[in-house]
Amino acid sequence: MEKKRILSGIQPSGNLMIGNYIGALKSWVKMQEEYDCYYVLVDMHAITVRQDPKILRRRCYDFIALYIASGIDPEKSAIFIQSHVSAHAELAWVLNCITYTGELNRMTQFKEKSVKNIKNINAGLYTYPVLMAADILLYQAHFVPVGHDQKQHLELARDLAQRFNSLYSDTFTVPKPYIPKVGARIMSLQEPEKKMSKSDENINNYIALLDEPDIIRAKIRRAVTDSNTSIEYDNNRPGISNLITIYSIITEKSFDEIKDDFKNKGYKEFKDDLAEVIIEYLKPLQNNYKRIRNDKQYLEDVLKNGKEQAFRSARKTLSKVYRKVGFIQPT
Ligand code: TRP
Repeated sequence: MEKKRILSGIQPSGNLMIGNYIGALKSWVKMQEEYDCYYVLVDMHAITVRQDPKILRRRCYDFIALYIASGIDPEKSAIFIQSHVSAHAELAWVLNCITYTGELNRMTQFKEKSVKNIKNINAGLYTYPVLMAADILLYQAHFVPVGHDQKQHLELARDLAQRFNSLYSDTFTVPKPYIPKVGARIMSLQEPEKKMSKSDENINNYIALLDEPDIIRAKIRRAVTDSNTSIEYDNNRPGISNLITIYSIITEKSFDEIKDDFKNKGYKEFKDDLAEVIIEYLKPLQNNYKRIRNDKQYLEDVLKNGKEQAFRSARKTLSKVYRKVGFIQPT
């Protein structure tokens, strides 16, 4: 039986952090065994907000090295960069022509980002969900692992696939969201009501995958808790509950076990312990990263192979699409 296909992507913006690892990369690694996986770094999405070209270029290498350091194996999965496969932009155009502006007006992320980037509400930001649909549909992905904030975009990808299929004829696999079994949400350290984000302006809100031990200690020490004292998971106490969640995921201890372990102890002891737990957890990844990031030739080779693999699959879909909409095949 042929393996089902997975596609997922991350934008090269901000710093990959522990929430990305727990929420995405770790499950990407697992999925490699069971699925045919395509993992794309979406640099074309990143330029919908202003980027410093030098930083963007460096960050793309950093992120690819972190994908691999996390355990994504280029022998098993296609690891590639979106702008290396021009079919993404080409399919996005065709899909733009079957997307209604009404659909894009409803996108909550566009509305949020417009408020944040009031001076640069560009057309790319507006049609971003269509480019994302192209990323997915090009590869005929069956499943797309995405966080809650991307569900609406995935819904659009499904609608566009169905619309194209019924306007022309069966062309695209209609993708489904892939919800990981343990769906813990890691929240911001300083504002635990909001999700931990790699693009947060306040770097104290997240633990970056490449943070040094002393930085990790300082960030955890500063993490917001409350005036209570018990180390206990409680929906009304988002700060400590978030720290307990992180502790529980890393140590694989239940909330009850953690509560017992810290019965007569205070926040300080818990936080000190949590910091060390995180430091140990990230150590192998950080060591792998250093080795991989320094080997530029290896990274170039991975990207070249990834690009070739992606290109083959993407071109097949794109030429079908071009044929169906009535474009003459060039000779
Ligand atoms: N929009 C996604 C995000 O910001 C990133 C993304 C782009 C993506 N293309 C994708 C995710 C395709 C999954 C599949 O998180």
